[in-house]
Amino acid sequence: MDLKDIEQDLAGVLHTEEELHARLEELAREIERDYEGRSILLVGVLRGAVMVMADLSRALKRDLEMDWMAVSSYGSGTTSSGVVRILKDLDTDITGRDVLIVEDIIDSGLTLSWLQANLRSRGAASVEICTMLRKPDALKVEVDVRYCGFDIPNDFVIGYGLDYAERYRNLRGVAVLAPHVYAPADEA
Ligand code: XMP
Ligand code: MG
Repeated sequence: MDLKDIEQDLAGVLHTEEELHARLEELAREIERDYEGRSILLVGVLRGAVMVMADLSRALKRDLEMDWMAVSSYGSGTTSSGVVRILKDLDTDITGRDVLIVEDIIDSGLTLSWLQANLRSRGAASVEICTMLRKPDALKVEVDVRYCGFDIPNDFVIGYGLDYAERYRNLRGVAVLAPHVYAPADEA
């Protein structure tokens, strides 16, 4: 689905598919350099990171392994609770491995700082983070992010894996969701 297909649900476009792909190519070159001579285990965080994982992994011109985790840090709303639960753990033993976490977005930072510490505690040789998006104004804890695609404003965004109530993940670009979608005007 393209940005123009749901124009009426968007309050603004942040990054087109072309911009996202071009930035991922740059990050892939950095990662190739930094991990030369070492193996890489990409760990995608379900579900939002599916698109980033698919595109970043294919942009990397080298051998690698992939695994997935699912964590939950949100209650029912749109703000992080800070309490992280593992819904699906890794299938891989990461002792001594160079792990690169692949994430869609860092908002408060609570999920990723917790996840990075958790994977480090399992004896990984290194645990770095690659995120497509980051909201600097929303950060509540410092997160050690090695690779970041774009810093964006503190708005709720959708597309490229990011959802609102499981919708819009298939949008090719990243956009700000129009308020009328999540706060419909009172018709009474
Ligand atoms: P924290 O706050 O722990 O949250 O850094 C990271 C996770 O929260 C989700 N998230 C969003 N999802 N639009 C979304 O569709 C957003 O603007 C947004 N902000 C945070 C996301 O799952 C991320 O992994
Ligand atoms: Mg996520």
